[in-house]
Amino acid sequence: MDNSERHANSPADALPGTNVPGADLPHFVGVLGGGRMGAGITHAFLINGANVLVVERDEASAEAARERVESAAAKSIERGAVDANLDEMVSRLTVTVDYDDFAGRQLVVEAVPEDWDLKVTALRGIEERLADDAYLASNTSSLSVNGLARELKRPQNFLGLHFFNPVPASTLIEVVLGEQTSHALAHAARGWVEALGKTAVVVNDAPGFASSRLGVAIALEAMRMVEEGVATAEDIDNAMVLGYKHPTGPLRTTDIVGLDVRLGIAEYLQSTLGERFAPPQILRDKVARGELGRKSGKGFFDWNG
Ligand SMILES: NC(=O)c1ccc[n+]([C@@H]2O[C@H](COP(=O)([O-])OP(=O)(O)OC[C@H]3O[C@@H](n4cnc5c(N)ncnc54)[C@H](O)[C@@H]3O)[C@@H](O)[C@H]2O)c1
Repeated sequence: MDNSERHANSPADALPGTNVPGADLPHFVGVLGGGRMGAGITHAFLINGANVLVVERDEASAEAARERVESAAAKSIERGAVDANLDEMVSRLTVTVDYDDFAGRQLVVEAVPEDWDLKVTALRGIEERLADDAYLASNTSSLSVNGLARELKRPQNFLGLHFFNPVPASTLIEVVLGEQTSHALAHAARGWVEALGKTAVVVNDAPGFASSRLGVAIALEAMRMVEEGVATAEDIDNAMVLGYKHPTGPLRTTDIVGLDVRLGIAEYLQSTLGERFAPPQILRDKVARGELGRKSGKGFFDWNG
């Protein structure tokens, strides 16, 4: 990556009155980590007119992140989901490996892996490069937003923006407010979500937020029903799909998410919210046998073929 490419689209290039279609969106957005979620978040801001800087941990990951975003952008144009010119869209994307490039960004969304120490180091590193009035968000799916905020110098400018996977197909963003999140930021975040064409669910920080807590609660009960021989996994899922219009049943969703991932979340919710989230033995047994769901070919359903 040469220097001219790295610094194209920097905030210093902003023209007064730069027109961004998503009226309430910041013009200059940063994303830390261009993996599955970071690339999706980048895509969401790009298709709505923002300039987006992605910072990755090394050159190889940066290249992979760029490919992920460009391919998602091309697909959304091909599908007709986005009416835009690919070259123009890609010209608003910058991918680097240097945290210093975050200087001047109005909003940065952190999307590195779900590891406390990694997130704290990353968020502090971003914060020290941002202006005092810039906003910082984490895409964490389970860590305490209040806990992360306590590690920062400007907790009033920090909140959780929990995008869902896959970002282009999901219309939900959970806006997670910390105790110290300012009213101005809470208000602005609702506007961003709307400008991204999605719907905000606003939650005061609590373990599992709203979505994981409820999703995992239903899934754990479904697992206990399989364990007790109440019905087959197929029939339990059909009860929710056909009876309650859930797009996917709780056990199939568990297979897609990964049984190991769900076990980790259940253990965390058990430790924070109590025994009602205790993982059923059937979940522990399946994880111990390597039946992790779709990624291993077997979970509550058979995914081979
Ligand atoms: N995958 C999901 O379904 C999902 C859904 C909602 C939220 N989340 C959350 O989003 C976050 C990211 O998850 P993901 O699935 O995209 O992970 P991922 O592993 O696909 O992507 C993480 C990216 O971060 C990069 N990275 C790692 N350390 C870095 C560093 N120090 N500096 C810069 N980049 C770094 C990696 O190279 C990778 O590209 C996690 O907090 C996760 O809990 C995930």
